Amino acid sequence: MLKLKLPTDPRWVNIAEKNIEDILVDHAYCEQKAATSGISLIVKYPDKTKLVEEMTALVAEEWSHFERVMEQLKKRGYGLGRNRPDEYVVELSKHIRKGDKRERQLMDHLLVNALIEARSCERFKLLWKNIQDEGLQKFYYELMVSEAGHFVSFVKLAKEYMPPEVVDTRLQELLKIEADIIANLEHRPDRMH
Ligand SMILES: [Fe+2]
Ligand SMILES: [Fe+2]
Repeated sequence: MLKLKLPTDPRWVNIAEKNIEDILVDHAYCEQKAATSGISLIVKYPDKTKLVEEMTALVAEEWSHFERVMEQLKKRGYGLGRNRPDEYVVELSKHIRKGDKRERQLMDHLLVNALIEARSCERFKLLWKNIQDEGLQKFYYELMVSEAGHFVSFVKLAKEYMPPEVVDTRLQELLKIEADIIANLEHRPDRMH
């Protein structure tokens, strides 16, 4: 799905369902970070009109996702727990190349965001298909569709600023890196990634 090179271990969903409070809290922070990341891109690249426009819409959408996860927590009598470091995102972000090539750095940033969207989308699909709670099934179906759209948008946006073939080559490299990160990350019952 979405070009990911390593599918999630199917055991993840069973573990996740048993820890739904932790998963929802972790998920809420994923949405908050997605919104924050969109804001950071706007602040860093105010001269890129298309990027500013698209990120403005994306931030609003991610924030609405955050609100929806908060509703799910509230419905179950849970609050927003503490934020925990997202090792997956930290590892993946190390591959955003720094230096003076501003467009290249932007491309890497957009592609890393695309991959986070793709992996979240894959996890939401697993939750939609396997979770027992019917309310959450519908919820994760809708979010899966939305995050799939974000994956496509981030890749398209990268191609606004770098030649398409350069973007495709870098996407392939990052897909391999992402699969290695997933393969080496320990399975944790309380995390979305
Ligand atoms: Fe989202
Ligand atoms: Fe998203």
